[in-house]
Amino acid sequence: MKFFSRSKATSSSQISVSVISHLGKIFHSTKPELFQVKVNDKQVDIYFPFVIDAVWDEVKSTLAQKLGPDMVFSKYYNVPIFSAQKPPLPNIKNIIAVSSGKGGVGKSASAVNLALALKRQGARVGILDADIYGPSVPIMLGTQNENPNSPDNKTMLPIMAHGLASNSIGYLVKSDHASIWRGPMASKALNQLLTQTKWPMLDYLIVDMPPGTGDIQLTMCQQLPLTAAVVVTTPQDLALSDAAKGIAMFEKLNIPVLGLIENMSYFECGHCHKRTTIFGEKGAQKLSDKYALPMLAKVPLNPIIREYADAGRSLIDEQSDHDISIIYQQAAMDITRYLCEEAEVLPVAANMASSIEITKLD
Ligand SMILES: Nc1ncnc2c1ncn2[C@@H]1O[C@H](COP(=O)(O)OP(=O)(O)O)[C@@H](O)[C@H]1O
Ligand SMILES: [Mg+2]
Repeated sequence: MKFFSRSKATSSSQISVSVISHLGKIFHSTKPELFQVKVNDKQVDIYFPFVIDAVWDEVKSTLAQKLGPDMVFSKYYNVPIFSAQKPPLPNIKNIIAVSSGKGGVGKSASAVNLALALKRQGARVGILDADIYGPSVPIMLGTQNENPNSPDNKTMLPIMAHGLASNSIGYLVKSDHASIWRGPMASKALNQLLTQTKWPMLDYLIVDMPPGTGDIQLTMCQQLPLTAAVVVTTPQDLALSDAAKGIAMFEKLNIPVLGLIENMSYFECGHCHKRTTIFGEKGAQKLSDKYALPMLAKVPLNPIIREYADAGRSLIDEQSDHDISIIYQQAAMDITRYLCEEAEVLPVAANMASSIEITKLD
């Protein structure tokens, strides 16, 4: 009996080592130790450090091929806290800025859809609208008539919509006042949104940054304990040169840029499916090559994006198999995966993360 239980334990740990090694290969991970695996007989529980829903079926069948068809695989998330320029805020594991060199390129639409895609894959996600020039997250979430409650008169409760916790400068001031804000006022408001919001436990807080690379944006970036950033651009030369300034700003601040989103990349005719590159071609690809940054997504110009955004609805949830939903899901997965590659796990955070309750997904 004794011998039997010992051999079983050995084989469990062998399975675990093998699963981790296969996962490392599947995801080309340089840090396979971030995958955690618990084996109980045929049951294999995998704790992923990044979202993987978009490819879970493929991963499961690859593992079944390698380890045997009778094994049962379940996935959970245990997202680590990665190091940032400043200590993490309570309850927020990682903060990712969505930024653009100029306005109107689809930064807010990208931020909201990425947040929805991350949530759809099972992560706990919040969105902070820090765009003092044009807070549009409330409209995109359909929460423009709401104001955060403050039961204790000190902290605000975030507004919940589509499973996202949100707070916005737009909930606090009328939008026509927001654009005339000066630096110190903007900083104060951002600080309030960050520190006085009672965020629930979040794996990722997505921040819709104000467009541009001026003093206000720089100060805000320094104020936030940012883990990483994503830069949104259109393929136009003008937008691209501004995006390059954005990349340079994050480099200067030592904040890893996880990749580029090329928005309004092309228009596909609904009838003949011919693609027209309205704002030019391969612009973001050149930028991606120049700075060695991954292209996270090429999002087409498609009225459905604006329609859902204007109506405060979630395309990702309502039409999860739409091409555009799939593009955002893939980008969300890649962002969290690259975060694991680019950022260091905080040692203290690793302890905290393991004590944090874990989300079971299936
Ligand atoms: N790929 C796209 N296709 C169609 N409309 C888009 C797309 N991206 C953004 N939009 C719409 O264009 C407008 C500007 O986008 P927005 O995200 O508000 O830009 P920014 O935050 O950069 O100023 C919004 O009405 C938005 O819904
Ligand atoms: Mg915006």
